[in-house]
Amino acid sequence: MYEVLVNAAETLRKKIGADFEPEIGLVLGTGLGQLADKLQDKVEVSYGELPDFPVSTVQSHAGKFLAGTLEGKKVLVMQGRFHYYEGYSLQQVVMPIRVMGLLGIRHLVVTNAAGGLAPAMETGEVMLITDHINMLGDSPLCGPNIDQLGPRFPDMHEAYAPKTNALIRVLALEEGIRLHEGVYAAVMGPALETAAEYRYIRTIGADAVGMSTVPEVLAAKHMGIPCTGFSAITDLGVPGKMHAVSLQDVLEAAEQSGQILERLLLKLMKVL
Ligand code: HPA
Repeated sequence: MYEVLVNAAETLRKKIGADFEPEIGLVLGTGLGQLADKLQDKVEVSYGELPDFPVSTVQSHAGKFLAGTLEGKKVLVMQGRFHYYEGYSLQQVVMPIRVMGLLGIRHLVVTNAAGGLAPAMETGEVMLITDHINMLGDSPLCGPNIDQLGPRFPDMHEAYAPKTNALIRVLALEEGIRLHEGVYAAVMGPALETAAEYRYIRTIGADAVGMSTVPEVLAAKHMGIPCTGFSAITDLGVPGKMHAVSLQDVLEAAEQSGQILERLLLKLMKVL
């Protein structure tokens, strides 16, 4: 696996230009791809162009790397990601994160669409992730440890960089953005939760629930890369506020959250 990752990283390095040294990795989740339009000097590389890379199967996820500059920072953007529910192993799911790590990113920013569980949340809002709960029943770090990437038992204390989060609270205040914060729980999906499952996930301490992000943060922390995460609240698993949800609802709410996130992420790039 290590050789596969190094090979993919070398291929990506050649395609984006050997002198482009990415500082920040940015994962754009469901319905949040529009920030990519803000990238300057953009180079696109589809995941399919990299040797041994999986190809995304979800229509709402484009599935490519974008290299470019955002507010003066050299950024590698993942427009679209792989999910466990697509049938990939978690080791495959985190391949793009591994590759970004091998190319030297010093901070990972992840975004996702999620169901809100905290009573104060509304759809179209944004939650800053302060911690996570892995409910996938699997980890990308299972199997023989790849010692070149990180330790067998990586520490997950303060997995979501607290100093960066403190900075983000100030940026949100400056921008007049109502920013929730809390714990993100990752489930397998692809079905959304039943009312009983939403109640359960709330009970065990989560503020939002989704089908991604946790494997990526595990892989990044394994490599010693500090992480920051945001959830676009696209539907509500809150008693009294639940109703049937379509992919269209999720995408429309993500678009709304995306506008807030874009303002916040652009400001964050300046200080990261
Ligand atoms: N549950 C799980 N994943 C999700 C949800 C949800 O309610 N909304 C968007 N992704």
